[in-house]
Amino acid sequence: MTGELSPIDKAKFVAARRAADFVEDGMRVGLGTGSTAAWLVRCLGEMVREDGLKFKGVPTSTRTADLAREVGIEVISLDEARWLDLTIDGADEFDGDLNLIKGGGGALLQEKIVATASDRMVVITDIGKQVETLGAFPLPVEVIPFGWQTTQALVEETLISMDVLGRDATLRMNGETPFVTDEGNFILDLHLHRIGNARQLALVLNQMPGVVENGLFIDICDTVVIGYGDGRVEMR
Ligand code: 5RP
Repeated sequence: MTGELSPIDKAKFVAARRAADFVEDGMRVGLGTGSTAAWLVRCLGEMVREDGLKFKGVPTSTRTADLAREVGIEVISLDEARWLDLTIDGADEFDGDLNLIKGGGGALLQEKIVATASDRMVVITDIGKQVETLGAFPLPVEVIPFGWQTTQALVEETLISMDVLGRDATLRMNGETPFVTDEGNFILDLHLHRIGNARQLALVLNQMPGVVENGLFIDICDTVVIGYGDGRVEMR
């Protein structure tokens, strides 16, 4: 499954492989989105096919749903599952309190709904995503397409009044056209550099008309499994 991996892919793989061992027979498990989560899905598929592991997966994107089915995982919707034992997902940044920035892959809305509906959220990541203060990675904010430029202006005005260095909110593109999420929305990426009060910013953003959700995951993650390029794994 792995072949010759670059150090970064090896780090993602070993974190995903370790976290796969959290999945037990009978569990309902949220399956994240992104390249690290894809390693997890492949590992779980192998455990289903070769070890007879029996669990149900709730994917957080159409990409993950397609991959999960392809590798032999039984896929159900969140409404069928209602509540999950565990969600395992990647992240774009994590800090010392296990708060996260997510949404680099554009799946933050389903990811946050699924993680919040889980007894436990485990994040799988390479060590390069650890930060002292969140914000170097542009913060994704999902907005509805209607009036998105007005929402963008409102977001930028709000940022001016807060403890953030950057104020630019750029529309995520997919070539010549806006990137569209699984829910048919757009993404604004906020270039903040440093987020002084992530909890407050998350609340303020979600109060704005037009904003559907933001990529700050505050007090949602329980455990981070960190992979290193040399194959070591650390858990926090
Ligand atoms: C998708 C996400 C991903 O978990 C995040 O972007 C990390 O991706 P990768 O594992 O490819 O580095 O939040 O919306």
